Amino acid sequence: MREPQTPSALIGEHPSVVALRQLISRVARSKAQTVLIYGETGTGKGLVARMIHQLSSRSDAEFIDINCAAIPSQLLESELFGHERGAFTGAVGHKQGLIEAAHGGTLFLDEVRELDPVMQAKILTLLGNRHFRRIGAVKPIHVDVRFIAATNKILLGEVKAGHFRDDLYYRLQVISINIAPLRERGDDVFLLAEHALATYNDQHGSRMRHFSPEVRHIFRRYTWPGNVRELENLLERICLLEDGDTIEVKHLPQRILREVGLVPASPQAGPQGAGSATTRDYHQATAQYQRELIESALSSASGHIGQAAHLLGLTRHALRHQMAKLGLQSLEGGHRDA
Ligand SMILES: Nc1ncnc2c1ncn2[C@@H]1O[C@H](COP(=O)(O)OP(=O)(O)OP(=O)(O)O)[C@@H](O)[C@H]1O
Ligand SMILES: [Mg+2]
Repeated sequence: MREPQTPSALIGEHPSVVALRQLISRVARSKAQTVLIYGETGTGKGLVARMIHQLSSRSDAEFIDINCAAIPSQLLESELFGHERGAFTGAVGHKQGLIEAAHGGTLFLDEVRELDPVMQAKILTLLGNRHFRRIGAVKPIHVDVRFIAATNKILLGEVKAGHFRDDLYYRLQVISINIAPLRERGDDVFLLAEHALATYNDQHGSRMRHFSPEVRHIFRRYTWPGNVRELENLLERICLLEDGDTIEVKHLPQRILREVGLVPASPQAGPQGAGSATTRDYHQATAQYQRELIESALSSASGHIGQAAHLLGLTRHALRHQMAKLGLQSLEGGHRDA
């Protein structure tokens, strides 16, 4: 028996999340055969797809998750449709495909935009007919599967750009679910953070429980391009590497501080800074590049000067000297010397 999962597995009290929970239950209980989920990376598309399955009458059958971007197209066809013996070189026995395996259940087509035109056509036919043939087979097989597709690209844009079939798009989007990015969910960031902390404290034996007022302020202002996953990864890293019970500004990576304006934005980021030295002062460009390298090492080392120096192949003394020269000393006040 599978653990029954309730809609509360989706954390959040923001109106868009409350509405999302309701929509998930309604879609789950409906007869909808196709569902399209849109959301930026890390917003919870996989979680929502699983919830729809678990709350549906299909929950005793399989939930099959397939990432269309991760499997080469030819392999994807035989994975999804299966094949008969001798259908192609190497097809020694017959093989049941994932579509058959999902009979009575749910097939989750993640990153659906990455299906190539041939596969898009095959999926469209399957959605229309509810039957398909294994590769090399004559007899069609009937299936009852709910298809949930997910995308982090706006599919209509992909249709307009000629990357995605319009007829498949219109069929998929009959029921579409939009997941709001984390930055638009107000104080939910704290609910999610507290939940994640509890999990990581359990897993790693850490005891991080609080956020300093400055960190709370930053969490609300930062744009979280990687959404909930980015938040989870950040907190796990802090639980693993930092002591104490309060998350403070010094625990946050430079890229976050820079974005919210706590560290001056670089005039030009990355190695390109050095590359464009022809148009700018050579010393300024190389200093900028050095600054980026050091900040990146400090961030990877969670502010430990010794570790950052090791990453850069410098002695601690040399790194300190460089930082002072580049004016980084005062900015790295929070960095520890361990
Ligand atoms: N509202 C939420 N409540 C609890 N956990 C959440 C919520 N939203 C996302 N998560 C968690 O965030 C992480 C990322 O979610 P998920 O993998 O579903 O995102 P995704 O949109 O599928 O990302 P990608 O586009 O990269 O595939 C997971 O650990 C998931 O459990
Ligand atoms: Mg996903």
